Amino acid sequence: MERIIMYPGETKEDAVDLKDIQSQLITAVNWNVLVLGSGGREHALAWKIAQSEKVSKVYIAPGNAGTASVGQNVVINIADFQAVKDVVLKYYINLVVVGPEQPLVDGIVDFFKADEDLRDVKIIGPDRVGAQLEGSKAFAKKFMERYGIPTAKCFTVTSSNLDEGLNYLTTLEPPYVLKADGLAAGKGVLILDAIADAQNELKEMLSGKFGAASAKVVIEQFLKGIEVSMFVLTDGENYVILPEAKDYKRIGDGDTGLNTGGMGAVSPVPFVTPDFVKKVEDRIIKPTIEGLKKEKIDYKGFIFLGLMNCGGDPYVIEYNVRMGDPETEGVMTRIDSDFAELLDKCAQGKLKEAHYKVNPDTSVTVMLVSGGYPEAYKKGMKITGLEDVCPCCIVAHAGTKLDGNDVVTSGGRVIAVTAHGKNIEEAREKAYNNAKKIVFEGKNYRHDIGLDLMKYNA
Ligand code: AMP
Ligand code: GLY
Repeated sequence: MERIIMYPGETKEDAVDLKDIQSQLITAVNWNVLVLGSGGREHALAWKIAQSEKVSKVYIAPGNAGTASVGQNVVINIADFQAVKDVVLKYYINLVVVGPEQPLVDGIVDFFKADEDLRDVKIIGPDRVGAQLEGSKAFAKKFMERYGIPTAKCFTVTSSNLDEGLNYLTTLEPPYVLKADGLAAGKGVLILDAIADAQNELKEMLSGKFGAASAKVVIEQFLKGIEVSMFVLTDGENYVILPEAKDYKRIGDGDTGLNTGGMGAVSPVPFVTPDFVKKVEDRIIKPTIEGLKKEKIDYKGFIFLGLMNCGGDPYVIEYNVRMGDPETEGVMTRIDSDFAELLDKCAQGKLKEAHYKVNPDTSVTVMLVSGGYPEAYKKGMKITGLEDVCPCCIVAHAGTKLDGNDVVTSGGRVIAVTAHGKNIEEAREKAYNNAKKIVFEGKNYRHDIGLDLMKYNA
């Protein structure tokens, strides 16, 4: 840090440029935060960060119609790191929060660390190697194997050992789980009942069914149980466990129909008892962070644990290196402390100094989606009724944009409505009553978010 005050008698050259003085004075007390992404997760993150007294302004790139109400949207392509850099410098950004996984897998953190102008800008997310926990299923499985982290048994196949892969399938009980190694927009996992189908799909995946992402395929043992999403924020040394959530992935009520990006969420999850959390910490979180340290992976960010609760024992189905969507829309509403400060401390490796508090409410999130989603759907439908939603609910925009003065649909998942209650029943009632007030042509949603968990609340 340079000295920023010019004393009488000093020449101008001795002091720093006036623009620098202004920016340093501003940033000394007020932070500018940049959130990268455009979904409901990013709206929820920006909403929570904007509540911090330390935050002067939140920028969202590229954002959506909802994020425009909590900060300033900056329309850039976030895959273009030079464009991100320009935004960071132009708006004196102190802290960058990377919403989706792709920029992390593409090395945005390494880009920041290697750039003289960006080196001191705080950024939340792992480096390129750390992001492989999500970017490569085979990498994640080997990592878990090295550190004895419980996960499904597996075998990795490429075109060079196809016969072994076909054979391995015969050693498993159905159903058969096939996973494209790389990122495949959430579509790269197939679960098949018949061995013949599994063997055919394995061949198709290796021949490019999911492009380069399935040039390598991980065959996994099927895990039976209930899924839960747990979220860890780590500075590479210490960690905070954020509220967990249950995500509802299928399009139809009763977990029927196609997989989606997520149709709703509930937090907390009643079967995530202190005993379960302790098992997750001892068997998964601590060995994961130890492993990252041992391998000298620079990891200051979120670790999203996709877990299967198998009779009370947690198994890792997947790691993600970002927050979940739509889980974040509920999780952010349960954090009562300054989230921007938590992220700032995390990025500095000082998580231990941060203050963190969660409220005991139950949140239920209902995702409103476009008719036809997750297959083909129309865009540009005018959304009305937003102003009728009770201020007690939190509305996160997922796939919306402004069209003049209108808010219109621009994606499959459109809006997430979150409500709180003292239990699931109360939160559900509020969330659904308000979700009904938002109207657009083709609107669809699940009616059973949280119903399966109510037996635990009884
Ligand atoms: P992933 O992209 O790895 O999260 O997988 C997508 C979905 O497939 C998960 O959310 C689970 O519902 C299911 N799944 C993945 N792996 C397994 C497994 N080994 N056993 C049972 N279900 C699985
Ligand atoms: N809700 C699951 C995910 O974000 O991957």
